[in-house]
Amino acid sequence: MTGMIEVKGLTKRYGRRVALDDVDLTAAPGEVVAVLGPNGAGKTSMIEILEGYRARDAGTVRVLGADPAAAGPAWRDRIGVLLQTTSVDPQLTVAEAISLFSRLYRTPRPAAELLDQLGLAAVAHRRTGVLSGGQQRRADLALALIGRPDVLFLDEPTTGFDPEARRDTWQVVRETAAAGCTVLLTTHYLDEAAELADRVVVVAGGRIVAAGDPRTLGGHLDAETTIRFRHPSGEPFELRTRTPTAALAEHVRAGAELAELSVTRPTLEATYLSLIGSRHAV
Ligand SMILES: Nc1ncnc2c1ncn2[C@@H]1O[C@H](COP(=O)(O)OP(=O)(O)O)[C@@H](O)[C@H]1O
Ligand SMILES: [Mg+2]
Repeated sequence: MTGMIEVKGLTKRYGRRVALDDVDLTAAPGEVVAVLGPNGAGKTSMIEILEGYRARDAGTVRVLGADPAAAGPAWRDRIGVLLQTTSVDPQLTVAEAISLFSRLYRTPRPAAELLDQLGLAAVAHRRTGVLSGGQQRRADLALALIGRPDVLFLDEPTTGFDPEARRDTWQVVRETAAAGCTVLLTTHYLDEAAELADRVVVVAGGRIVAAGDPRTLGGHLDAETTIRFRHPSGEPFELRTRTPTAALAEHVRAGAELAELSVTRPTLEATYLSLIGSRHAV
C-alpha cells in the first residue's frame, strides 16, 4: 500500500536557523498521525510544506503521490487544510464563508450537513469575527471539510478550547478518519495525540525524537519501575528495576510492614517531557 503522505529527509531553514532537520514521515490511507511537540519544534513548518504553502530546502515530499510544491487544482481538490491561525474574512457570516469555499471544490458537502456536524447551525448567520474562539475554530474546520478531503491537515485544531469543545472536535476528527480520510494533525497536547492518533511523531528542535504507538511512546511501558519504602530503622530505600515483583518479594519475605511503600512507573507524560526536555525550544 502506498502512503498517502511520504516524507523523506525533509529539511527547512530560515536563514541560518534550521527549523526541520532530516525529517521522515509517512501516513497510510485512513491513518491519523499526530505530530506532537512544543512551540518552535517545527510543526507548522512541516505541515505547511506538506500543504504546499511553504517551500522546503531539501528532502522529498509526496502527498497523494504528488509533490505539494508543484501540485495543481485536482490535487488541491482532495486536500483539506486547517491553518494554525484563521484566514477567514471576519466580515463574512459562517454560511457565507461556507458558500464561498464550496465553489472551490468539485463535489462540496451540503452546508446544512456541515453546520450540523460542527454544531454551528445556531450561529450560521453570525459574522465569523464575532464568534467565540471555539466556534471560530469549528468554522475553520467546516471549511477544511467542505471538499470531502482524502487527506486532512489540522494545525493545532483545539488549542485554547474548553474540554467539551475539544471532545466535540475530536469526535469530528474520528468521524472523518472513519470515513477513510487520512489525517495529519499537530498538537502540543499529549492527551490529544494519545486520544486521536494511530501513530505519534514527537518533534523537538526540528528533529523527530520518538515515533510510534501513543500508548507505548518512548518505551515508557518498558521503563524501569521505582520501588520506595522506609526501613524499620527509618532509613529511606529506593530501587529502580525491571523486575519489581522479584525485587519486592525479597523485602516482604521478612514479613515486617514496609512504611510508605510505593511502586511507580513513569507516566506517558513524564516520558514525553523527558523526550522533549533537553531540546525544548521556547
Ligand atoms: N517564516 C519564518 N521565518 C523565520 N523563522 C521562522 C518562520 N516560521 C517559523 N520560524 C522558526 O522556525 C522554528 C519552527 O517554527 P514552527 O514551524 O512555527 O514550529 P511550531 O509550529 O512547532 O511552533 C521556530 O524557531 C520559528 O521561530
Ligand atoms: Mg505551529
